[in-house]
Amino acid sequence: TFVVTDNCIKCKYTDCVAVCPVDAFFEGPNFLVIDPIICIDCALCVPECPADAIFQDTELPAEQVHYLEINAQLCQEWPNITELKAAPADADKWNGVAEKLPLLER
Ligand code: SF4
Ligand code: F3S
Repeated sequence: TFVVTDNCIKCKYTDCVAVCPVDAFFEGPNFLVIDPIICIDCALCVPECPADAIFQDTELPAEQVHYLEINAQLCQEWPNITELKAAPADADKWNGVAEKLPLLER
């Protein structure tokens, strides 16, 4: 499966959802996650993300491994998202800020 990681938080550009052929993305207030059951490992979403926030589970940087569990859990709680929408007005300001997990809204 592919996994959405830390840099998506407060960026949430949603370019990823527009290309997913199986609608595997789920939307929280300031973050998206991928359902590992739905994802077919096509990798199409990876280059679409302006925040470079999506990794294959086998290639997760060590400090992002906890996002595997976060994606698997929150995809069961949040609604599906299938269409591009406007990013937060301050998304670019947060792109590249490290360790945003404390800012994740559930
Ligand atoms: Fe969707 Fe493919 Fe990305 Fe999985 S890897 S979330 S199937 S676009
Ligand atoms: Fe997040 Fe990147 Fe998608 S910032 S919403 S994973 S395009």
